[in-house]
Amino acid sequence: MNASVSAAATATASPVAAEAAPFFSVKDIHAYYGESYIVQGVSFDVAKGEVLSLLGRNGAGKTSTLRTLARLDQPALKHGEIWLDGRPLHAMKAHQAAVEGVQLVPEDRRIIGGLTVEENLILAQVSEPRGWEIERIYEHFPRLAERRNQEATTMSGGEQQMLAVARALARDIKILFLDEPYEGLAPVIVQEIESIVRQIRDIGITTVIVEQNAVAALRLSDKAVIMDMGQIVYEGSARSVLDDTRLRDEYLAI
Ligand SMILES: Nc1ncnc2c1ncn2[C@@H]1O[C@H](COP(=O)(O)OP(=O)(O)OP(=O)(O)O)[C@@H](O)[C@H]1O
Ligand SMILES: [Mg+2]
Repeated sequence: MNASVSAAATATASPVAAEAAPFFSVKDIHAYYGESYIVQGVSFDVAKGEVLSLLGRNGAGKTSTLRTLARLDQPALKHGEIWLDGRPLHAMKAHQAAVEGVQLVPEDRRIIGGLTVEENLILAQVSEPRGWEIERIYEHFPRLAERRNQEATTMSGGEQQMLAVARALARDIKILFLDEPYEGLAPVIVQEIESIVRQIRDIGITTVIVEQNAVAALRLSDKAVIMDMGQIVYEGSARSVLDDTRLRDEYLAI
């Protein structure tokens, strides 16, 4: 093919491709901890501003999948592609993915001890690109505003989870990965965090949520995928999972 033909082909093909490409796309990823083959060919797409629940039994590979998507070194991605808004995350390390707008809130929340709530937020804004201003964060998280001068690790589990999400918004993120955000929290606090995730969705941020509390995760999700033994065993609407007793019995224990 000569240069002009190839340029013409690209010119006609690219608008179609751009329209068809999902905002976040995971294509047949395989990841290993050393010799242990854990993430075994996972694929799914998420549209911009959608919330997706990633569910499954203990040990199914949910955390490992999130870690792979956030491009942490372990587990190591050996095959497959991860695309965010047209950018190839699979070719990046975690710090580069972070600059592209990826934020993982791990199960342990990584709140920094010895610092106040506000200092935790300021620290999140140190690296470019910056997200929400501190005052805007406080408008959405009044509990954090009240506690801005409190040492962050002395807050309750629910308040610390709010801080973990707030810290994500202090950066300019495109996609948020939440690993078990409701773990150990009372229903009333779960509802507060749910309302925050809804607000995040309303401003166009895409969220993938891993939760044992599948009902709570599904009621704010558009889509759901269920993993078992490192593979996707179901993909559909959140509603379809809530309505399917077989899926619930077999994989979700709800
Ligand atoms: N660092 C590691 N090295 C080796 N194997 C690991 C490592 N971390 C996790 N695994 C294994 O990978 C598999 C999937 O674990 P993962 O933590 O991804 O599951 P999960 O779905 O998040 O489970 P849970 O619901 O219990 O959090 C498990 O068999 C686990 O033992
Ligand atoms: Mg896990």
